[in-house]
Amino acid sequence: MRKILVLGLAGILVLMAIGIAMALTAGPTTIYGSYHDLSSSGKALTATNVNQICVFCHTPHSGLALSGDYAYLWNRWASTTTYQTYTSSTMNATEPSTMSGVSAICLSCHDGSVAIGVLNNVYGQNFTATFTQTANSNASYNTSTPGWKMTAGLPFLGTDLRNDHPVGFTYDSALAAADGGLQTPGTNSVTGTTNGTGITLTLFNQKLECATCHNVHRPGATTTGDFPFLKASNNNSSLCLTCHLK
Ligand code: HEC
Ligand code: HEC
Ligand code: HEC
Ligand code: HEC
Repeated sequence: MRKILVLGLAGILVLMAIGIAMALTAGPTTIYGSYHDLSSSGKALTATNVNQICVFCHTPHSGLALSGDYAYLWNRWASTTTYQTYTSSTMNATEPSTMSGVSAICLSCHDGSVAIGVLNNVYGQNFTATFTQTANSNASYNTSTPGWKMTAGLPFLGTDLRNDHPVGFTYDSALAAADGGLQTPGTNSVTGTTNGTGITLTLFNQKLECATCHNVHRPGATTTGDFPFLKASNNNSSLCLTCHLK
């Protein structure tokens, strides 16, 4: 009887230890306090005249359409810039020179074409946020433009996308067959089977976009490979290996 009790207690202790370990490695799970929190609790830029987080990208009313699509209720204007695109002799897909999907929203801030703080609907009217920059910030900004524009640093992608992973093209079974080294995707998603097992990445209207690899709401853990705003940790390159059968 006593043996069973001891074994039972040991089991509970092991379970508790696993629970604590998971809590420690899981890391933060909310946008609050991350680089994408531009409110007073933000990490890089903190707004001084609006204390909301979602408002820099979404609005509950008067959302803006992206290529005629109101999905995600955007509170900001997408980038309409023409880009220099990635090319190579082995690339099968073609990256478009203008972006229509979610990538156009990321690029609105990250190519420096649309002011970060110029928003459609805050407190029921057009709005321009004012910011201060913290010591954690990795980018430079044109602070004399109302709402600030990103101008330099690693977070700044600019309009030359030749040195960035291609986005904005259709990734379907035909592309996988043509390439020969790609995981065959399903409808609007791709799931790793041999490598990157268990990782499922979203394709938007079957297209590979910035938000296929990234999740703007997920700050990432502090563990190796779990860079801020990746859909999943890239430890052991598991994110890359979800799609590339290398
Ligand atoms: C920096 C821009 C940005 C901020 C700030 C932001 N989002 Fe998003 N959100 C996006 C993008 C981009 C998508 C579409 C791509 C995706 O799903 O990752 C999205 C999609 C969504 C979706 C629909 C898809 C899903 O994942 O369920 C919801 C709901 C959402 N966001 C809620 C929020 C809320 C609530 C906040 C504030 C706490 C917030 N977002 C802050 C950019 C942002
Ligand atoms: C409202 C403007 C805005 C939008 C929209 C936006 N970002 Fe950002 N993002 C920022 C700012 C500001 C930073 C912090 C830059 C700094 O360090 O000064 C940032 C930082 C990042 C970082 C780097 C974090 C780090 O560790 O340095 C990544 C990755 C990122 N964004 C990806 C994306 C992707 C992908 C999208 C679209 C799905 C997106 N962002 C949309 C404003 C935006
Ligand atoms: C194929 C996957 C993939 C796609 C698509 C992708 N990224 Fe990334 N991104 C990453 C990874 C992985 C990192 C982690 C850091 C690194 O290795 O640069 C990263 C890092 C970043 C950073 C941090 C600064 C830097 O250069 O490392 C920013 C900002 C960023 N991405 C924005 C974007 C935007 C905007 C798009 C769309 C135009 C995009 N990403 C498309 C995988 C991707
Ligand atoms: C969501 C799936 C997906 C993920 C994740 C992904 N890629 Fe890709 N990648 C693709 C597709 C699809 C292409 C286009 C292939 C083609 O058309 O030949 C591509 C193209 C490339 C190319 C250019 C290939 C050429 O022939 O010029 C390189 C290099 C590359 N990816 C590296 C990476 C790296 C490194 C990572 C991880 C940081 C990564 N990819 C993550 C799907 C993905």
